[in-house]
Amino acid sequence: MNQQLATQLTLLTFKINDEPVHLRDFAPTMTLLEYLRHSGRSGTKEGCGDGDCGACTVVMIGAGADGKPHYQAVNSCLIPLGAVAGREIFTAEGIVDRPGSNSTGVAIDQLHPVQAAMVETGGSQCGYCTPGFIMSLFAAYYEGQVDDLAVEGNLCRCTGYLPIRRAAQQVAAAAAIDDGFTHKLNTATVSLESLSYLGNNQQFYRPTQLQEVFDRWQQHPEATLVAGATDLGLEMSWHRQHYPVLISLEAVTELKQISQTPEVLEIGAAVPLSQIETSLHGIFPSLDEMLHWFAARQVRNRATLGGNLGTASPIGDLPPVLLSLDASVKLASSVGERIIPLANFFKGYRQTELQPQEVIVSVQIPKLPTPGTVRRLAQSYKIGKRGTDDISIVAAAFVIDLDANHRILHARLGYGGVAATPIRAIEVEEMLIGQPWSLETLQAVRLQLQEAFTPLTDLRGSADYRKRLVVNLFEKFFVEFP
Ligand SMILES: Cc1cc2nc3c(=O)[nH]c(=O)nc-3n(C[C@H](O)[C@H](O)[C@H](O)COP(=O)(O)OP(=O)(O)OC[C@H]3O[C@@H](n4cnc5c(N)ncnc54)[C@H](O)[C@@H]3O)c2cc1C
Ligand code: FES
Ligand code: FES
Repeated sequence: MNQQLATQLTLLTFKINDEPVHLRDFAPTMTLLEYLRHSGRSGTKEGCGDGDCGACTVVMIGAGADGKPHYQAVNSCLIPLGAVAGREIFTAEGIVDRPGSNSTGVAIDQLHPVQAAMVETGGSQCGYCTPGFIMSLFAAYYEGQVDDLAVEGNLCRCTGYLPIRRAAQQVAAAAAIDDGFTHKLNTATVSLESLSYLGNNQQFYRPTQLQEVFDRWQQHPEATLVAGATDLGLEMSWHRQHYPVLISLEAVTELKQISQTPEVLEIGAAVPLSQIETSLHGIFPSLDEMLHWFAARQVRNRATLGGNLGTASPIGDLPPVLLSLDASVKLASSVGERIIPLANFFKGYRQTELQPQEVIVSVQIPKLPTPGTVRRLAQSYKIGKRGTDDISIVAAAFVIDLDANHRILHARLGYGGVAATPIRAIEVEEMLIGQPWSLETLQAVRLQLQEAFTPLTDLRGSADYRKRLVVNLFEKFFVEFP
């Protein structure tokens, strides 16, 4: 057993709007939103409680793709208090030009520029969504990226988006100011320390080394892993699920790395998706495309690749992309490491190849196409009820390698939402090999593809609709990449 395990604390410490907070005996699974409102910081609102509306958006200082501190918008309704330890949080009350003061009665010239813009354009009617929009815009302001995407995770029921977009445009047009918040970033620290916290008879561990994860798991075989908590957070906020022991992966060094050789790209399981978006942009266009449609910025700032595979959801959006790219997963436990093809990872509905006390360490993606390839075609598609911040009805990702004669050397068709697990259309892939990439070939496999899966009918779409999408998305791919 590792002797370096963190000393057990009964005090949870972090900062809100520059004020130090010390909590004793608070449940580490209480959400940050619950705590904010419980402590009288009622500027932060609860809308849906499940990450969909953005009313609860706050800003947390976290590491960006460059490893430096950045303001990051996050959904406070999904973040367990344990995960906030050692962090700095900002809410709408704390961003007036006297950081730390209360915004009640503040004159407009004391408001933060994003708050002032919202007032001036009439971007707030009932005001319920306003603090969330403000905090998303606040984070974007310091990133120099104030656009529609900055508020893709925020919903407004009454004002209409026009005045809110005007506020965003006004902020985007204004010269960025070098203010106290900029200086705060320059001095902030983003490295998370190892934590062992006990509150309300619930234990929250945040190891910094993989070995400590295994040690903790041996101590507590009943423990649950948590990474960004964008999936597990729902269990806490909506289903009031009780977790006696949580082991957080978000500070584990071995799981936070991105590395590459000319042949392989390796992405750590605990790297947040927004970091993957930035660091790896342009390497795999089909991954870029799917990340663009994955949830919204608040969720991507927290969600991880390991969590997306760990949920084993049949409608997870990244598995179809990774299946199409022939990715493998590196798994580890106290007895050692193993690497398996992702295609062998999903065993059944919400079941994976993970053995007890085994963790996903990373995902490895081969970078080189099949030998002899003169052209690689690759793209991903997602069909959902709404453009952003929604899970898919069907997701698909395709890779076709063509030789000099425009014949198919290699084919991968990955799908989500059509079976109990993310899945490849293997029979159709085999039929495609050696065929010309043509409309005739497409028509020859059409029936096979339509019958490849037996999807379910649910609230999101009928089985028949899903079957049609399986074919239509492949046809769309052909039209886009003739
Ligand atoms: C509003 C909203 C929108 C969403 N939109 C999408 C979407 O568009 N597409 C999509 O695919 N998903 C979506 N999701 C689901 C979720 O965001 C993703 O599945 C995300 O990738 C989960 O990552 P996480 O780090 O938050 O996982 P967590 O919630 O921390 O963990 C999820 C599960 O994985 C396990 N786990 C985590 N890391 C590991 C690891 N390294 N090894 C082993 N097990 C592990 C945990 O024990 C847990 O069972 C959405 C969720 C919300 C709330
Ligand atoms: S309350 Fe709706 S996203 Fe948190
Ligand atoms: S919900 Fe009323 S102003 Fe947006």
